[in-house]
Amino acid sequence: MASGSWEEFFAVHLPPTDFEDNRSLLKEFCKRHDQYGNKIVLVTSGGTTVPLEHNTVRFVDNFSAGTRGSASAEYFLEHGYAVIFMHRQKSLEPFTRHFSGQKLLDMLDLQEQGPNTTITVKPDSVFALAPVLARYQAAHAAGALLHVSFTTVSEYFWLLRAACECLAHTGARALLYLAAAVSDFYIPKDRVPTHKMQSASGPPVIQLHLVPKMLAPLVNLWVPEAYVVSFKLETDENLLITKARAALEKYKHKMVVANLLQTRHQRVILVTSESNQEIVLTKEELHAGVDIEATIVAEIVRLHADHIAGVAPR
Ligand code: PMT
Repeated sequence: MASGSWEEFFAVHLPPTDFEDNRSLLKEFCKRHDQYGNKIVLVTSGGTTVPLEHNTVRFVDNFSAGTRGSASAEYFLEHGYAVIFMHRQKSLEPFTRHFSGQKLLDMLDLQEQGPNTTITVKPDSVFALAPVLARYQAAHAAGALLHVSFTTVSEYFWLLRAACECLAHTGARALLYLAAAVSDFYIPKDRVPTHKMQSASGPPVIQLHLVPKMLAPLVNLWVPEAYVVSFKLETDENLLITKARAALEKYKHKMVVANLLQTRHQRVILVTSESNQEIVLTKEELHAGVDIEATIVAEIVRLHADHIAGVAPR
């Protein structure tokens, strides 16, 4: 079925309950960094859900752990950007991503002596924790990192548009890095049952509709001066570059980062109107825990600087 328009999507789906709070945070953040002429990047991260019930017990999800987005946010901070980290609730976040699961607790020592309880970092963990903590504290002291979160695809789009409205004033200094895995299919609001679907009613027949592609209004209307990078996720190598290039030609933005689900942490291709630039980690780099995002971000930062200066890509 054909998708409705993006205007229709916003008309039918109400903003999330915490929307005005998030909008104020976004406005304040962009205004503060605009005053200093800082570069601002919007990093989207994690997958969006499509609820199958209004009182949601079940939902359709999009695959993403938030690894790409959370790592990239750290590297943008290192390059001096102010970072809006727009992420799926409970997906990986910058800095804490290094200590997910039980890792943090395993680094601590507990001493209980009578009424006095002390918690210390184990000496052999200080080496791992200290540099991350230092970068985290520096980012927070500078007010350089803002977190806003979404769960459903409609929450994602409301936040995305609000962030773009704020970033429109940032002009060419704004960079959009759309790494979130966004649903292409959804169930229109009026077809979603209020309560939990009952198995006694037999197997449900669910028809998914196409979500309008928000890249079109984003590039043309919301942030026309920004440097926009979208991502293309495929599972079939034969489709990857063709589809990435088709997206670039259709939306006329600056870059598509093409990746395959199976190898996304070791290989990407930066597709621009001029070139296909492959970035590949060696096995050794992968085992040593090198983040491919360090190279992706460095290259995008370089191209964004050219964009701001108004020079043709090198
Ligand atoms: O988080 P990780 O586990 O590290 O995984 C990272 C990743 C694989 C999720 C990431 O690298 C990635 O590829 N993200 C984009 C996934 C995706 O949504 O691809 P797509 O081909 O469905 O969409 C392409 C682009 O269109 C996206 O940039 C998206 O922002 C945009 N889009 C999608 C749907 C929609 N309705 N409107 C859009 O504008």
